[in-house]
Amino acid sequence: MSQATRVAFVTGAGAGIGRAIAQALAQADHAVVAGDVNLSAAEETAATIRATGAEAVASLVDVTNVDSIDSAFNEVDKRWGRLDVLVNNAGIARVAHLLDMSIDDFRAVFDVNVMGTFLCTQRAATLMRKNRWGRIVNTASISAFRASAGRAAYGPSKAAVVSLTKQTAIEMSRDGITANAVAPGPIETEFTLKHHPDAMRRAYERSVPLGRYGLPEEIAAAVCFLASEKAGYINGCVLDVDGGFLAAGVPD
Ligand SMILES: NC(=O)c1ccc[n+]([C@@H]2O[C@H](COP(=O)([O-])OP(=O)(O)OC[C@H]3O[C@@H](n4cnc5c(N)ncnc54)[C@H](O)[C@@H]3O)[C@@H](O)[C@H]2O)c1
Repeated sequence: MSQATRVAFVTGAGAGIGRAIAQALAQADHAVVAGDVNLSAAEETAATIRATGAEAVASLVDVTNVDSIDSAFNEVDKRWGRLDVLVNNAGIARVAHLLDMSIDDFRAVFDVNVMGTFLCTQRAATLMRKNRWGRIVNTASISAFRASAGRAAYGPSKAAVVSLTKQTAIEMSRDGITANAVAPGPIETEFTLKHHPDAMRRAYERSVPLGRYGLPEEIAAAVCFLASEKAGYINGCVLDVDGGFLAAGVPD
């Protein structure tokens, strides 16, 4: 590994947006740890990266479990002795009307999306501050800012991710660590195949000024920028990558 190569840990890297982020960071000269609760999916991601000649390992990590997080980040410390980039991308949704949302589902969503982001941030920032340089990028969502049907748990959890991003930014900046978030609009992944019925898909296509779903690679490009040296003065921000959804008023 060259002195310049940075080490990046991506959670939820076994599928969709996380896989694209892991691949893009590898192309941008990072050694990548593809973390996921689904180890075989993470291994697939790491294999696609190694096939390009870049460095990648898979890591079994459940972001809701402290022991699992500790062992994943200890492995990084043992192997590289450093961590430069953390992408808190693992996320889940449970879709139900406010009145039907169960306590278990509400808790599950907050556990992965909020507690997972918090725990991984704590562990990663502890490693990053040894080198006084770090980039933390969180995957929020347009649902942090605009409510849509069925998102009584998901929307508030992503709003908490935005708040946690700002909190991380102000508390870690003196250690050379920035924290930012991306807010994806609807993106073509397994996640939307599962959670967006046809009527919702058509509604999104009408509401997004660019008239289409985004691609995982389009989120990955934004994350890569926020993780780069060039983004050094961007801190505590949310970058909307949503085809104009959050900006839109009356379209015609
Ligand atoms: N797809 C979209 O339209 C969209 C829009 C806005 C935000 N997002 C956010 O982007 C992120 C990725 O979404 P996606 O569409 O790629 O989802 P996905 O469901 O396709 O992939 C999510 C990955 O996270 C992993 N994961 C789930 N729980 C985990 C846990 N406890 N620990 C570790 N890994 C875990 C899954 O195994 C899976 O590999 C999520 O945070 C999601 O909320 C997605």
